[in-house]
Amino acid sequence: MSRSQGKLYGQVAIITGASSGIGAGIATAYAEAGARVVINYSSSEDKAKKVLEEVLQLGGEGFICKADVSKEGQVREMFREAIDRFGTVDILVNNAGLQKDAPFHELSLEEWNRVLAINLTGQFLCAREAVREFLRRGVVPERSKAAGKIVCMSSVHETIPWAGHANYAASKGGVMMLMKSIAQEYAPKKIRVNSIGPGAIRTPINHGAWKTPEAYRNLLKLIPSKRIGEVEDVGKAAVWLASDDADYVNGITLFVDGGMLLYPGFEDNG
Ligand code: BGC
Repeated sequence: MSRSQGKLYGQVAIITGASSGIGAGIATAYAEAGARVVINYSSSEDKAKKVLEEVLQLGGEGFICKADVSKEGQVREMFREAIDRFGTVDILVNNAGLQKDAPFHELSLEEWNRVLAINLTGQFLCAREAVREFLRRGVVPERSKAAGKIVCMSSVHETIPWAGHANYAASKGGVMMLMKSIAQEYAPKKIRVNSIGPGAIRTPINHGAWKTPEAYRNLLKLIPSKRIGEVEDVGKAAVWLASDDADYVNGITLFVDGGMLLYPGFEDNG
């Protein structure tokens, strides 16, 4: 399929945290679907450039943009640059996120604040800028039925408690209610806001969970589908969620988790 037949043809997407992992996978999936992509990164310029190269090889368009999503001024600047270069922003993928794991009684205030700043405040700052642009522009029917779309990267841990990761789980629980509240507030303006809740996806963030055969075997106990997820699994879901095929979908979390939420411990027990 050519890009001009893609589900996101002609639309402009900002993808935060797009220099690696799920963000990088979404950037290339969006480029294949015809979107022009803003590849945000905070420190890994070389990796961001590689993602851009892939996008260009696919015949896509885009540029890399350095911004720390937890800094209001840098977020504003990123949106200003996207609008200057591409005219507007149609889609925000609020993907940037990190883990700083520790037993709760050893969790430092710094580790708490850092995770909440990137994973939750960062999503707030980017979503607010996106909504401002969507309201300014309104619906352009040739591009999309919506005035704009936001895809928040959540996690199965917006639902599943996670010992040793209280800061991360709290941030994703927060993302869920942020997403639903703004979905409710702006649905009448034709802005759609949804989340993707990945399970274990093969990326650097959870390297320890799949790098050795033993770790991988252990991980599969949590996954009824009996395989780790790949970034392409999330990329495809993210294309659909931002496309007009999902025009009547608003305020949901689409879990892409191989059944991790199905209480796999009950498979042969209980
Ligand atoms: C985390 C991963 C983890 C997965 C399933 C994700 O949100 O970032 O580290 O493997 O949830 O537990």
